[in-house]
Amino acid sequence: MVSNNNDKFSKIEEIARRRGFFWQSSEIYGGLSGFYDYAHLGTAIKKKWENLWRNYFLSLDDNFYEIDCSNIMPEGVFKASGHLESFVDPVLKCKKCGNFERADQIIEEILGESYEGLTMKEIDEIIKKHNIRCPKCKGNFEDVKTLNMMFPIDVGTGKIIRAYLRPETAQSAYVNFRREFECLRKKLPLGLAIIGKAFRNEISPRNVLFRMREFTQAELQIFFDPEKINDHPDFDSVADYKLRIKEVQKPLEEISCANMLKKLPKFYVYYMAKIQQFYLDILKIDKEKFRFRELSEEEKAFYNKYHWDIELNISIGWKEVAGIHYRTDHDLKGHQDISKQDQRISIDDKKIIPHVLELSFGVDRNVFSLLDLGYKEEQERIIFKLPRLVGPYDVAVFPLVNKDNLPEKAKEVRDILKPMFSVFYDESGSIGRRYRRMDEIGVCCCITIDNQTMEDESVTLRDRDSMKQIRVKIDELCETIYKFLNGEDIEKLGKIVK
Ligand code: GAP
Repeated sequence: MVSNNNDKFSKIEEIARRRGFFWQSSEIYGGLSGFYDYAHLGTAIKKKWENLWRNYFLSLDDNFYEIDCSNIMPEGVFKASGHLESFVDPVLKCKKCGNFERADQIIEEILGESYEGLTMKEIDEIIKKHNIRCPKCKGNFEDVKTLNMMFPIDVGTGKIIRAYLRPETAQSAYVNFRREFECLRKKLPLGLAIIGKAFRNEISPRNVLFRMREFTQAELQIFFDPEKINDHPDFDSVADYKLRIKEVQKPLEEISCANMLKKLPKFYVYYMAKIQQFYLDILKIDKEKFRFRELSEEEKAFYNKYHWDIELNISIGWKEVAGIHYRTDHDLKGHQDISKQDQRISIDDKKIIPHVLELSFGVDRNVFSLLDLGYKEEQERIIFKLPRLVGPYDVAVFPLVNKDNLPEKAKEVRDILKPMFSVFYDESGSIGRRYRRMDEIGVCCCITIDNQTMEDESVTLRDRDSMKQIRVKIDELCETIYKFLNGEDIEKLGKIVK
């Protein structure tokens, strides 16, 4: 597995391998860097994150839908989108050992600041000025070059057709827009969401799930009438809501949505509020760890008019986990030009090419950030304080001891819970060790069946974070667990017992 010099990352990677979160793909063949497989626990966490995202963002408008599309798309798609020409990274090749490094990354690592968006000339100047050399052999670099990050694919036999693995799910929504508009209510805004794979031939994959070559995105493309960009019917509900904002060259501030309108359109600001609420209210991320960061002109993606990243402050600093992008009609217009298929629609007695607001999330980066933010070492235990709704199991069920009919009773309780929750059952080892094992994989709630259960049909419910316990009647257990998973404080759910 790719090692990295961050202590916390190394510890997370070690637990991930030992307990079954994720590990390098095709490990028995030495693996390929930038490719990971999720194991049983990691898959459960990832699916839960995806479901939370899906339920939350699709419910923001009755005209938002999910679609599921091919990963391989013909060359024309990426001529139209601009990826063939502009989806390039600056690379440095070592004259001595031939090692490739991504130029902005190596500069950032050595000089300790973000250097995205530099011109080629500026990169060469910095490399020379600071005498930056190959980290592998200390050789000098050639002049900086660009490299396209897409993976080409030859489709077919005989007559080969050039295609690419999609570098973002977004293009799949754009090529399907016209058909979906016709099938649906012929109404804007129309949202098309995709949770799916994206592929990028990253020059130097690193930081575990942060820079991968195959990764999962959750993206929502909102097609809207550009004349209505300063409008959102629900804006008043967020007008006083304060966003955590880091503008270019300014310190982090909290600014109300109403005040953000001086800088950005209403439609855009409304969705910023919804994104922040997703992180703070659904995922329960500590407010101090969340911010929007405005990208400078040089840093913005080539297709964006407004481009803000969503960043979380993890153990290696503020890191991008998502973005909110105003892509204008860049993509649909491009597809109209290259495919020669009319992308205009008729709406409100006019013909328009809709504009697109894109909410773009990297699922793997989000999952890894939750592990990083949740990892804690306490005196006698290691614990992942994952959001309760994202743990690999909702609840674990244990008989206190392996006798006195407690296992049979515990299995009865497990079977009551199973239709509603993901349940882990275990009867091996001491109860203390079983609790520790759940703490170490981030399960927030443990139910124990003890001798008192046999007398009064009550069980204990243990909170992972505080280790406090309450007693709950079995016939009230589903409701209590439901409230607990949705954020209720354990003290409000019952009397704390020893
Ligand atoms: N459709 C717009 C788009 O793809 P992006 O900023 O290139 O925009 C969106 O990517 C998100 O995808 C990022 O915020 C990040 O969370 C995730 N992402 C991008 N490259 C990644 C990589 N190499 N490995 C893991 N996640 C990545």
